[in-house]
Amino acid sequence: MYQMGRRIVLDLFGRSHADCVGCVLHGLPAGIPIDMASVQSDVDLRKPSAGIGTPRTESDAVEILQGTVDGRTDGNPLLIVIRNKNTDSSAYLRFGVTPRPGHADLPALVKNPLHDIRGGGQFSGRLTVAIVAAGSICRQFNEAYGIRTSAHTSSIGAVADPSPRSLEESVRSRGFPTRACSEELHRAMSAEILAAGEDGDSVGGVVECITEGLPIGFGDIWFDALDALLAKAMFGIPACKGIEFGKGFRLTRMRGSQSNDPFYYDDGVKTRSGNMGGILGGMSDGGPLVFRTAFKPTPSIAKEQDTVNLVEMRDDKVAATGRHDPCIVPRAAIVVESMTALVIADQIACEDYPTLWR
Ligand SMILES: Cc1cc2nc3c(=O)[nH]c(=O)nc-3n(C[C@H](O)[C@H](O)[C@H](O)COP(=O)(O)O)c2cc1C
Repeated sequence: MYQMGRRIVLDLFGRSHADCVGCVLHGLPAGIPIDMASVQSDVDLRKPSAGIGTPRTESDAVEILQGTVDGRTDGNPLLIVIRNKNTDSSAYLRFGVTPRPGHADLPALVKNPLHDIRGGGQFSGRLTVAIVAAGSICRQFNEAYGIRTSAHTSSIGAVADPSPRSLEESVRSRGFPTRACSEELHRAMSAEILAAGEDGDSVGGVVECITEGLPIGFGDIWFDALDALLAKAMFGIPACKGIEFGKGFRLTRMRGSQSNDPFYYDDGVKTRSGNMGGILGGMSDGGPLVFRTAFKPTPSIAKEQDTVNLVEMRDDKVAATGRHDPCIVPRAAIVVESMTALVIADQIACEDYPTLWR
């Protein structure tokens, strides 16, 4: 079972080349109107883009099969399904014999000899489409309480956004296929992705996520601390290799007098800086919640690499043909945003916020 959440619980299911992927989303109260056009446009942000993504045209129509009446939640679990179409498994079968370095093939095959190698099976980024659909519904739930989240690309390979970004700028990144915050960065990031792809190679990068509207004290402590839950959620995204809140690892090179975020009073308690990323003791300090997630380069690359032959038990070579993005970072941005929305919706439920819909 692939499950996350305490009150608002996501159960993920499916495999890349099975009939469908999807999820069951438990715990939303009855009466929430679901804007399906908004869900569909979030899901479309996860699709590969011409030039910088895989050439496939995934048809990712979101179907909510149970849990709604007349476009509103009915208080029962939502059953969300996205059908898999245009799957071609032929290019994947060799990975059952010669596993791809950097992908899940080797441990998956050793752990489960019945592992479905096609499209990466249940380890595929394909399952994130269901996370985006559920996260998009949770984002609508959170926004009703005045809490807004957006994620954008902050670096790809050597091209890094030098500017701190506002929530509004992050939202505007939806207009650029790389999810960069400006046209200039978009062009430089696209060039970085295209250059890697032309070399038969891949490139990684960083997604930044901003949430505004959290009241002071929103969150819990110890293992349910808001940063702990977000970190767990982010590491649940395939290819995520790191997370930092606020200044993150750079805090280790500061003195306390530089790293602490001083408070001031202006119609409520505020923080002057956001070095901690808006979290103290596992709870919101009332400022914007800002964190960054690191994504590794796509493991499946056209360049030949060393591997082993698991049938003949000898060294071998493998190169990935088929449909793989030279960079998954632009597609991961909406997944990060959706995961964050799921964690925050669950925390709203855990804080016993009154329902707004009855
Ligand atoms: C949105 C998304 C799309 C992905 N697409 C691919 C892909 O086309 N090819 C690939 O090799 N890996 C892809 N991945 C990454 C793999 O799923 C991931 O690296 C693999 O499951 C191993 O897991 P790990 O990197 O977390 O160890 C994608 C990940 C995400 C989030």
